Amino acid sequence: MSKHPEWLDATAEADVPDDDVIGLDIGGLDIALYRVDGTVYATDNVCTHGQARLCDGFLEGHEIECPLHQGRFDIRDGSPTCAPVTEAIRCHPVRIEGGRVLLQLRD
Ligand code: FES
Repeated sequence: MSKHPEWLDATAEADVPDDDVIGLDIGGLDIALYRVDGTVYATDNVCTHGQARLCDGFLEGHEIECPLHQGRFDIRDGSPTCAPVTEAIRCHPVRIEGGRVLLQLRD
């Protein structure tokens, strides 16, 4: 059974800026929240290549560029899209309810 099976209230939907990324501590995990074309996405915030926070990177469309070595991930499924990253970043299901962003954190 998952350690975080429940939906956690992350933040207000309005706190996630359009076409941008923010970093939050949610349930003890460092999480990046993005909004692209009105849809909110969530991934782990720490790059799989090194100790860099993706919320300090650059969001272009559905791709987040890591600030340290410019590796890239697709925030929709976490897949690596540009070297040097080779390992996918973990994604977390998002639900919007009553103007709040709810996350189901994956182990
Ligand atoms: Fe992210 Fe190297 S730490 S690409």
